[in-house]
Amino acid sequence: MCGIIGIIGKNTSTPKIVEGLRRLEYRGYDSAGIATLVNGAIERRRAEGKLKNLEAVLQANPLEGDVGIGHTRWATHGIPNEANAHPHMTAKVAMVHNGIIENFQELKEELTAKGHVFASDTDTEAVVHLITAYLDEGLSPKDATAQALNRLDGAFALAIIFAGEHDLMIGARRGSPLAIGFGDGEMYLGSDAIALSHLTNRVMYIEDGDWAVLSRSGAEVFDADGNTVERPVRVSDLSNASVGKGGYRHFMLKEIYEQPQVIGDTLSGFINPQDRTITMPDLPFDLGSVTRLTIVACGTSYYACQTARYWIEKLARIPVEVDVASEFRYREAPLVDGGAALFVSQSGETADTLAALRYAKSKGQHILSIVNVPESTISRESDGTLLTYAGPEVGVASTKAFTTQLVVLACLAIAMGRAKGTIEHDCEARLMEALIEVPARAAEVLNHDERLKELAAEIAEARDVLYLGRGTCYPIAMEGALKLKEISYIHAEGYAAGEMKHGPIALIDENVPVIVIAPTDELFEKTASNMQEVIARGGRVIFLSDEPGAKKLGKLAAATIALPQVDPFVAPILYAIPVQLLAYHTACIKGTDVDQPRNLAKSVTVE
Ligand code: F6R
Repeated sequence: MCGIIGIIGKNTSTPKIVEGLRRLEYRGYDSAGIATLVNGAIERRRAEGKLKNLEAVLQANPLEGDVGIGHTRWATHGIPNEANAHPHMTAKVAMVHNGIIENFQELKEELTAKGHVFASDTDTEAVVHLITAYLDEGLSPKDATAQALNRLDGAFALAIIFAGEHDLMIGARRGSPLAIGFGDGEMYLGSDAIALSHLTNRVMYIEDGDWAVLSRSGAEVFDADGNTVERPVRVSDLSNASVGKGGYRHFMLKEIYEQPQVIGDTLSGFINPQDRTITMPDLPFDLGSVTRLTIVACGTSYYACQTARYWIEKLARIPVEVDVASEFRYREAPLVDGGAALFVSQSGETADTLAALRYAKSKGQHILSIVNVPESTISRESDGTLLTYAGPEVGVASTKAFTTQLVVLACLAIAMGRAKGTIEHDCEARLMEALIEVPARAAEVLNHDERLKELAAEIAEARDVLYLGRGTCYPIAMEGALKLKEISYIHAEGYAAGEMKHGPIALIDENVPVIVIAPTDELFEKTASNMQEVIARGGRVIFLSDEPGAKKLGKLAAATIALPQVDPFVAPILYAIPVQLLAYHTACIKGTDVDQPRNLAKSVTVE
């Protein structure tokens, strides 16, 4: 949440900072701002709302300066107005911040007593005044920052510039991610490599507790104890094209359409097509020795884990517990020493998931993660990482990250079954066959886009929508409802189809569309009965099934989409796509901001 960028450049930095902020806008869009040094003095432009408002301000009142910092905000402390927009500054210091300073109130009181005057309600401004206070005592910018960092509680990634210092920028991270970019006579700071991909592909991810002093010629990095440390510089493979819309109206649509490709890319990391087996990277523990698995994630990633529970329990015959990170981390779950815990996160930076990981680690668990960002904190703090190859996901509503997570989880379930000796080679080969087919079948699912768009017109009129599914498709029902809620702002619920009669059936009338997700698997007949119950009460059913399912029950539903028939094992991966498209088109009809829905941000690095 919140994106930061900093540039010590050779010429005016503002356009490059704006471009970086455009790439970071997925992290928050409540306000944006830039500060630069102009003849040694700090100058600043800020605007409430999206980046385009800041661009209008800059057009009217341009900002020179080759040293600058920029910020796009997801509000935590203080309402999203201009006064609370970053950068925050005094005459001596300007700073942008991602994270939360927990002891800001205490610092603010102390500094106010010393005569500092605050101009915002943010936690960030306390840090700016704290550094200023140390500068006032005669400390150098580097020493003043070091002193201030020692006094901060909470999570942060910071980029700081100082009046009169044209070859200096300081960055620091604790909890929140921060990358240093290396240019040709220029240096950069950014929340991630995406923010810097228009500037450089040489990127260093500094570690938790590190801080760095940048000049045009390089960066000196220190750890939390002030020791000089070396961190590897990596060559990022992000290209400008991979972070653009590529001709699509929205990032979300582009990312939905990328699924056949990225599912294939992800699968190729795990399959051995010759002998039809799964290949797992070397893990620091034996999957066969796992007797119980705890899986933790948030939001959409959590629903991927819910589906994985069905797969792993069935194939590896071990109990699997799945929890949302914000609950798991506080409930003091008893974990057997030597057990295994799996953390799933697109960004690899979600604060609650990371805290849950640290809890599990402190309880002696083997830590495995599935992430889309290899350099992310969750990946780095895990004993082993399995990667999704979804590429950068910019739309705030997760789509391709979800289906690629499902692919990796499916491979993990098979690998665990093999390691535990609970599946035979024939079974593994059959499941592999089914997985290998998914990219092609996913492309076929996309052919239903036009029809789904027509159906979205009806959903756009509804006040409430229900999604029903069973087994591995029950989490797909919940994911479908989440997608619809977050981008169209229509209330939606995902229910286990068999649970509907225990309450939610009371909601059914002709105004509540009910989306039934029912591939022809062993639970099809059961779901079919629940669908009949809905129809009997006047409910209008949109029936997502396959050819045989559609033949059998299609006539009863108000609308039917017949998806390709696949092995039920992989059905949830395919059925995720039509629910994404339904939500997407509904949101477009409603005219909401599809890629940047209200109140949300992509990388949730606050608790
Ligand atoms: C919804 C969505 C969120 C994320 C959640 C976890 O479309 O994107 O629910 O899934 O914030 O994020 P990661 O996977 O980055 O940990």
